[in-house]
Amino acid sequence: MAMENMKQFLFALSAAGAFGFVAIIFVLRWVLHFKEGLAWDGGLAEFNWHPVLIVTGFIFLQGIAIIVYRLPWTWQCSKLIMKFIHAGLNLAAFIFAIISMVAVFDFHNAAKIPNMYSLHSWLGLAAVILYGLQLVLGVALYLIPVTPVSWRAAFMPIHVYSGLFLFTSVIAVALMGITEKLIFGLSNPKYKDSPPEAIFVNVLGILLVVFGALVLWIATRTSWKRPSDQILHSLHTNRGSEDNSKAGPALSELAEGANPEADGDVRKRNSKSES
Ligand code: HEM
Ligand code: HEM
Repeated sequence: MAMENMKQFLFALSAAGAFGFVAIIFVLRWVLHFKEGLAWDGGLAEFNWHPVLIVTGFIFLQGIAIIVYRLPWTWQCSKLIMKFIHAGLNLAAFIFAIISMVAVFDFHNAAKIPNMYSLHSWLGLAAVILYGLQLVLGVALYLIPVTPVSWRAAFMPIHVYSGLFLFTSVIAVALMGITEKLIFGLSNPKYKDSPPEAIFVNVLGILLVVFGALVLWIATRTSWKRPSDQILHSLHTNRGSEDNSKAGPALSELAEGANPEADGDVRKRNSKSES
């Protein structure tokens, strides 16, 4: 990665981290300061686990999981280790999402509120189910050693597309949930009268959108992709005792070529270790 490019990467990464972190602070302040706090008692404090776990887990952890392969300081780790980290973070995000679902269903049942009536709940449940499917397929294709390399390569564009699509959908569903909750929850003064809670939580929505935009930006720059293991390996063996300053630019040039959209020759050479 050339120096100029590295600066841009670090800027995008720290901005994503900062927006994600502040979004978590905002959702906690929302439920702890403006709302009923957190508890597991069938009441509104139990409902509050729903937004908290979605923002910290399903949005923040999933965002980190998506960009974890892009961190240049992990490129000397083996691809297998990185796959475990990517899969582990996605699994953690899924567990947070499941607990957040249990919280809202339990609250609805205790309060005798009907289940699954809103567009938010339909799209939300669909996203969680498809995310579970993506997780199972990801493990089956990329962690189980017997899966043919040709299948891995063939499914990679679908895996990346559906991963980015799910991440975007989850943020959209969260925005619907936030809006619903503000309309239901604010009565005196109402949402339309812009009480402080409404402004504060609208800002939470904006933070989530910016976090999503930054993660998508990082995950779609081909020049920031992890170079394939094969290239890294040959670089190590060719380099001998040369210092890193010489390997740096070479690595960046090779990394540019290592993306699957690059010319066919590079793609053929790398397809084995790409996935
Ligand atoms: C309800 C999913 C984010 C607010 C629900 C239900 C599901 C769901 C499946 C229906 C529960 C039932 O019928 O018993 C999701 C998913 C989210 C998400 C997958 C993230 C992508 C949020 C956020 C909020 C929120 C951030 C903000 C407070 C609500 C509210 C309800 C609800 C108010 C009750 C009304 C309704 O059923 O639509 N959610 N939710 N949700 N959610 Fe979310
Ligand atoms: C890459 C999403 C689960 C293996 C990606 C990318 C996304 C993604 C968006 C593109 C990242 C990039 O271009 O830098 C997801 C989601 C998952 C999930 C949302 C869970 C719901 C898994 C699992 C595995 C896996 C369980 C198993 C190891 C991979 C591999 C890559 C990848 C090998 C290619 C990395 C590279 O280009 O160097 N995933 N993934 N994924 N994912 Fe997943």
